[in-house]
Amino acid sequence: MAAASDDAIIRFENVGLRYGLGPEVLKDVNFELAKGSFHFLIGESGAGKSSLLKLIYLALKPSRGLISLFGHDIAVTSRHQLPALRRRVGVVFQEFRLLNHLSAFDNVALPLRVAGAKENLVKKHVTELLTWVGLQSHMEARPPTLSGGQQQRVSIARAIIARPRLLLADEPTGNVDDVMGFRLMHLFEELNRLGTTVVIATHNMQVVERLGHGRLLLDDGNLTVKPPQPKKETVAAASRLSKGEEDALAAAEQAAIADPFGDFPDENETFGDPASLGNYL
Ligand SMILES: Nc1ncnc2c1ncn2[C@@H]1O[C@H](COP(=O)(O)OP(=O)(O)O)[C@@H](O)[C@H]1O
Ligand SMILES: [Mg+2]
Repeated sequence: MAAASDDAIIRFENVGLRYGLGPEVLKDVNFELAKGSFHFLIGESGAGKSSLLKLIYLALKPSRGLISLFGHDIAVTSRHQLPALRRRVGVVFQEFRLLNHLSAFDNVALPLRVAGAKENLVKKHVTELLTWVGLQSHMEARPPTLSGGQQQRVSIARAIIARPRLLLADEPTGNVDDVMGFRLMHLFEELNRLGTTVVIATHNMQVVERLGHGRLLLDDGNLTVKPPQPKKETVAAASRLSKGEEDALAAAEQAAIADPFGDFPDENETFGDPASLGNYL
């Protein structure tokens, strides 16, 4: 595999994507993401966010254009080398995609076992991470018996267990309340601070405007890149929130900041301090 010498983790050049004989859902997409960067991928429902993420984690091939991942041009990378590239990417899926016949432990263990890790290491790391996301007493539970928030944390643990260099999340706050949404965002920020490159798809502009970061804007399949933005203290004017909604959002963020890893709603479970992941990642 020929590797480029620069710092780009992902590069797209004139990438187009169509499903079957349908219209192009991504058109002439050009961007590159530097190692260690943090971007929100923003766009209305149907804009192409999930499709773009699928191209990045190599679940889809582009109809045209060039995609390079970790400096490797995908088109000239042989089939048997792709799984190794894919293993460097952690994905938090919108609909979790946990295997329902396996326990939470075995779901999280899967990426390590696939990579051939020794079972004593698997046990150590999976126990550590599941404890860290507050699920130490649910390790043997099967996903259908877990709440949405619990399944989401299993899916996050699975995404980071193999120490990905790139973490992708598809609308990770779609099924949680605003406090949990901010907590998850702060968790992704912490992973980023520890060195992981992060891309998070969302259509929640309010949260995005509060957190700043670079942005990939998708509109009808066209992508525009915006550099990191200053955080907005108040977003009411920009996003046409009512004063009441704006206040509720601010209160949610304050609650998340005051208790960043704290109890999950109605559950006696606690996130570990993300800083402690420094030993892990
Ligand atoms: N498997 C598929 N087959 C055909 N069309 C699809 C498929 N997946 C997505 N699309 C279409 O591609 C467009 C972008 O979808 P998607 O990437 O899911 O957008 P988003 O994640 O932003 O909501 C939509 O018009 C959607 O209907
Ligand atoms: Mg989507």
